[in-house]
Amino acid sequence: MELTGYNVVITGGSGGIGSALVSGLIASGASVHNLDIQDALKPDATFHKTDLTSEASVKETLSTIEKIDALIVCAGVQLVGQDSKIGEVALETWQKTVDINMTGAFLSVKHAIPGLIKSGRGSVILIGSPTGMTMEGAGYTAYGASKAGMMGLSRIIAVDYKEQGVRSNVVVPGTMSTPLIQKIWDDPEKGPDLIRRTPLGRMGKPSDLVGLVNWLVSDQSSFATGAFYAVDGGMTAR
Ligand SMILES: NC(=O)c1ccc[n+]([C@@H]2O[C@H](COP(=O)([O-])OP(=O)(O)OC[C@H]3O[C@@H](n4cnc5c(N)ncnc54)[C@H](O)[C@@H]3O)[C@@H](O)[C@H]2O)c1
Repeated sequence: MELTGYNVVITGGSGGIGSALVSGLIASGASVHNLDIQDALKPDATFHKTDLTSEASVKETLSTIEKIDALIVCAGVQLVGQDSKIGEVALETWQKTVDINMTGAFLSVKHAIPGLIKSGRGSVILIGSPTGMTMEGAGYTAYGASKAGMMGLSRIIAVDYKEQGVRSNVVVPGTMSTPLIQKIWDDPEKGPDLIRRTPLGRMGKPSDLVGLVNWLVSDQSSFATGAFYAVDGGMTAR
């Protein structure tokens, strides 16, 4: 996929999935801006330290980027050990999760919209989760609900901005080995259980998402909008 000339903004580009997406985009020739609260291990994108829960921070960063061909919303948290069944979830856990996963998506797209419209081919790509669309969310009330919310945003954006040439899609990764789920993975019961619930019987690699994300960034996906694309070893097909 040739992405020379594409200006791509990614949130959470310093994380496990985000850093693989940054590498894949740069390898295809795109210019990449990484908005994250933590520095990247590989400084191959232009880094903008940004707190996605702060409208002032998001607005300040995105106002410096004039043309945005694609926005990838990849930042997220899953508060393993705190998030649970609804009767046991503290309000702080709910709020922190929703602030980053859902309000962070809202603020990122809101302030990227002028740049996406300016490009004339803006593509929004939200990194969702099986927990936002299936029973995989059981036991993770705040995380699953926040993912359902940010995934729902995608269809609304797709319809509301179709005339301005902005598309919006969701990529749904299955279980991937990243810091996000390290605590689940380390649990002697929960780790193997995740694999049992994945028809392909293994976890994925963040790089498994690169081909699909690069296609969604590019004009080759110009008829794709308002859709969910799973790369999950079959988890959502069960
Ligand atoms: N790893 C998986 O198995 C998996 C599966 C399905 C979906 N996802 C989704 O993929 C996305 C990336 O997850 P990951 O596994 O790479 O996690 P990760 O923890 O490795 O990376 C998350 C990134 O988000 C950043 N971030 C968190 N809060 C922020 C804030 N307030 N402002 C700016 N940046 C902030 C972190 O600094 C980090 O770089 C998330 O949206 C997650 O829900 C992951």
